[in-house]
Amino acid sequence: MRHFLIDTDTAGDDTTALLLLARTTNIALEGVTTVAGNVDVQQATENALYTLQIADRASQVPVYAGASRPLLYPLQTATDVHGADGMGNAHYPPAIQRPEQTHAVEAICRLADQWAGRLEIVAIGPLTNIALAVRLDPLLPKKIRHLWVMGGAVHAQGNVTPAAEFNFYVDPHAVHIVLDAGFPLTLLGWEICVRDGVLSDAFFEEIEGLQTPLTSFFLQTNRLVRAFDKSHGVAGATQPDALLTAVALQPTLATKSAPAFLQVAVDDNATRGMTVADLLLLDRTKNATVVRGVDAGAFQQRMRDLLEGNPLVAQER
Ligand code: RIB
Ligand code: CA
Repeated sequence: MRHFLIDTDTAGDDTTALLLLARTTNIALEGVTTVAGNVDVQQATENALYTLQIADRASQVPVYAGASRPLLYPLQTATDVHGADGMGNAHYPPAIQRPEQTHAVEAICRLADQWAGRLEIVAIGPLTNIALAVRLDPLLPKKIRHLWVMGGAVHAQGNVTPAAEFNFYVDPHAVHIVLDAGFPLTLLGWEICVRDGVLSDAFFEEIEGLQTPLTSFFLQTNRLVRAFDKSHGVAGATQPDALLTAVALQPTLATKSAPAFLQVAVDDNATRGMTVADLLLLDRTKNATVVRGVDAGAFQQRMRDLLEGNPLVAQER
C-alpha cells in the first residue's frame, strides 16, 4: 500500500488531481494540505473539502489549512484563470466536512514521522508549506519516500511570464529551499503539460455526453481555465496537476525522465521564478528527476476512467 499526502492551492486542475488520488482504490490518502496560490488559502481549503465530498470521500481524509502567503513576496493569485472561487465561479456551498485545527506545516511533519519512509507528497501549488515544513523539521527530506512536484518550466517559456511557471513564480524562495533540501524529487514542468497533457475539444465533447456528478463537477471547475488556455494558444485544456498526479500514481506514464540539477531565480525581475536546469550534470550532483515526456494517450484514458467512475488502481513502487 502506498501512502500519499497532497499539498494543493485547490482550483481547476488541482481538483482533478485530488479526484485521482481520492478515487484510487489501492492507495491511502493520508491527508490534504492547502496553500495560498490559485486562490487564497481559505478558498483553497473549502475547494478541497468540497472536492472530497464530490469524490464520495467526505470526512474520510483530513484537510489541513496552510500558508496564507508566500515566504517573502505578496500573494499573487490566478483568479483571472480559474475564477474568483477557483472553481469556474461555481460558488459551491460549504462542504459538510470542516478542516482540522492542526496547521498544514505541522501536519506534513507529523505524517512524515507517522509513515516514516513511506509517505509520498504530491505538491501541486506554490511550495510554501513544503519549505516551511523543512524549516520545522530539517530531516523531513530523509523521512519521506518521494516528493512529486508540478512546477517550473525546463528550458521553456513559462505561463505567467516568459521565464516562469505560476507555482515557481508565486513563491520562488520556497522553491529554492525545497530544491536545496535533499528531497527525493520528481518534477513535471509546464512544458510537458502543454505538449503531452492537453485535453482536446473532442475529449470534452465525449465527457459532456457522460453526464455524471463527476463529469459535471470536472466541466464546471475547469471551464474557465479551458477558455483561458484556448485563448492563449493551447489546442485545448491543460491539466498540469492531474498530469503530475497521474504520473505519481502510475510512474510508467512518464516515457522519458532525466537527472538534473535544478535552481530557481528568486529576484523580483524578468527572471523571477525561472527554472535553471542543468541536465548535463557536468560538475554537480542531481537534486531532481525531471519528466521529459508523458504518454498522452494513456493520460487521457486515465482521465476517462476517472470521469466514468471506474475504479482506479495505482502502480506499486
Ligand atoms: O502552472 C500550473 C500550475 O499553476 C498548476 O498547479 C495550476 O493549478 C496553476 O495554478
Ligand atoms: Ca495547483
